[in-house]
Amino acid sequence: MANLQDLTQHNQFALADMLTMMSEDEKNQLALDLDGINLEEVETLYNDVYVNRQVEAPAGHLADVDVEVKSDMTEERRSSLEQLGLEAIKVGRFAALLMAGGQGTRLAHPGPKGTFSFNDISLFELQAKQLLKLSAECNTTIPWFIMTSDINHDETIEFFKTYQYFNYDEKDITFFKQPNIVALSPEGQLLLNAQGRLLTAPNGNGGIYEALAATGLYQTMKKRGVDFIYLNNIDNVLVKVLDPVFCGLAVESEADVTTKTIKPLNGESVGRVIMADNKKQVMEYTELPEGMENQFDNGNIGIHIFRRDFLEEASAKALPYHLAIKNLEQLDEDFAIQKKETLKFEKFYFDIFRYADSFKTLQVDRTSEFSPLKNKEGKDSIETAHQALVDNHIL
Ligand code: UTP
Repeated sequence: MANLQDLTQHNQFALADMLTMMSEDEKNQLALDLDGINLEEVETLYNDVYVNRQVEAPAGHLADVDVEVKSDMTEERRSSLEQLGLEAIKVGRFAALLMAGGQGTRLAHPGPKGTFSFNDISLFELQAKQLLKLSAECNTTIPWFIMTSDINHDETIEFFKTYQYFNYDEKDITFFKQPNIVALSPEGQLLLNAQGRLLTAPNGNGGIYEALAATGLYQTMKKRGVDFIYLNNIDNVLVKVLDPVFCGLAVESEADVTTKTIKPLNGESVGRVIMADNKKQVMEYTELPEGMENQFDNGNIGIHIFRRDFLEEASAKALPYHLAIKNLEQLDEDFAIQKKETLKFEKFYFDIFRYADSFKTLQVDRTSEFSPLKNKEGKDSIETAHQALVDNHIL
């Protein structure tokens, strides 16, 4: 697609200037990197997602989602859902899907976030242990699909190998990579990474669906008899992976999307799960219109169950890009390595909800189910996550 001569024509003056100081080899390398890039599309993305961005409430009538509250369930209801969930897990109707392709820039842990450990137990191991316990209880195997990205794929696999897959059967774990997309300076300029290659970054956790489709994993799941895909992220240290009560609710309702939520605290940094004209939506906290911080009662904690057939069909449809501003390592105009504010373009996995027709929501207790590890210090940090693990007798 693009070549070196096209740069100035598309306002990529920064890279065009740096080109004049590059060796032939470096130029050839950059030419290869640019080959897959459509510069016109990059300009449009920059204008749409950054220059002309507007924070607007979703269109239509906005309302709270209907929820079933876990703590209000009778013992009979809870136990019957649990049985339903366990039965479905037993016969192989569930797969676990983990999003672990993020850059974890705020935590700044050297290595994939899943390798961060509390008392020598990594976040990956915390989740693997739960799945293994459930497999043993149900006398079955649970397929585990783990999304990585270019920045952490090899290291993630190495880590699993080093720890013998935490006793998981290697053939039941599938690692797959999400796509990358270019990152830009606030002026819309393409950048070079510390190795002098075109700077790209994972395209957001919404890249998961195109990656599953491209790698044929929906077919793999179908062949294994998987009807429901349980999705969670890497950094909630209290996640109950494949919580049987939650699984039971998805089986009972047969909803396209079943979601776990918590009641958000005042102005909390979690997306808000709402209904907009009878479609479930998440308004990400970074995009909450002013005045809406405390309007809705359900916070998104990244735990959802999808019908496989719904996801497979919806994966072919487009998802929009959102803006994320992160501190990324890059070369400055003198080829010195620097960390600078950079525009990242991210798809959000919950934007797929717009293609769903049926929804179910379970509101759960934050103290036993939600403590995200996002920052080194302060809120949602190493200290708060550690305390939550101790309080819940996990450590
Ligand atoms: P976050 O939005 O917290 O992003 O990810 P992050 O990259 O982990 O951390 P920061 O913002 O740079 O500090 C929520 C979940 O989505 C996954 C993450 O791995 C995490 O499980 N994710 C995020 C991906 O899988 N791919 C992405 O491109 C982005």
